[in-house]
Amino acid sequence: MDFVDVLRKRRMVRNYRPDPVPAESIERILDAARKAPSAGFSQGVSFIVVTEEGTRRAIADLAQESSYVAAGFDPWISGAPAHIVVATSEQAYHERYQEPDKLKPDGSEIEWPIPYWWVDAGAALMLVLLGAVNEGMAAGFLGVRSLPGLRELLGIPETVTPLGIVTLGFPLPDRRSGSLERGWKAQDQVVHYERWQPQRGASYGQEAHSNPVTKPEDGLPASRGDV
Ligand SMILES: Cc1cc2nc3c(=O)[nH]c(=O)nc-3n(C[C@H](O)[C@H](O)[C@H](O)COP(=O)(O)O)c2cc1C
Repeated sequence: MDFVDVLRKRRMVRNYRPDPVPAESIERILDAARKAPSAGFSQGVSFIVVTEEGTRRAIADLAQESSYVAAGFDPWISGAPAHIVVATSEQAYHERYQEPDKLKPDGSEIEWPIPYWWVDAGAALMLVLLGAVNEGMAAGFLGVRSLPGLRELLGIPETVTPLGIVTLGFPLPDRRSGSLERGWKAQDQVVHYERWQPQRGASYGQEAHSNPVTKPEDGLPASRGDV
């Protein structure tokens, strides 16, 4: 699929056909995602694919699917034929940056300007979301508040932290997130040329709707929800 079409079609989908996801599609999606850029080529991001129905139901319980359903959404978590849990390991980055080529001249580990393990996980997550569209499917990301529960369910070690769940499948019409009512911020509210322009960006929220906002368009009305 043309890259521009992949970008245009990508949105969080919250309803899927029950049809299984082809194993080759999952393999292709994750082959692209594992090749995401990573600080020091640490490659500390990992993925857990879940297709087993009981486990998907247990994940849906942990993610409080019932509250989505109560808000008018479909049971999109248990109903997705596949889940991909994206996870990252801070430890993998410390280990990599304690290798000789990454140590400071005094032999100590760098002071991390920001936690690159989260940056890399976000990059990999985006590739999963785009890869799903490229395979003619759709995906949706959600957070799970009970990380200990998810760890226990999937046997994830303490040194690895799951970001959340990507639901994956062939899309059905779905209820839209109420958050979309906010519309897209205008480009000059988020893009700065040459240096930060306070009059354009301001602090978050203050000018969020001072310019006309653009609503995502795909023919489906946005509706209220807590997502
Ligand atoms: C870090 C992150 C966490 C999110 N958590 C949830 C979530 O827990 N539940 C949910 O339904 N959507 C969640 N979303 C999806 C956002 O609501 C969605 O991306 C946003 O409304 C824009 O819609 P779009 O991605 O369809 O364009 C999350 C998105 C991101 C990037």
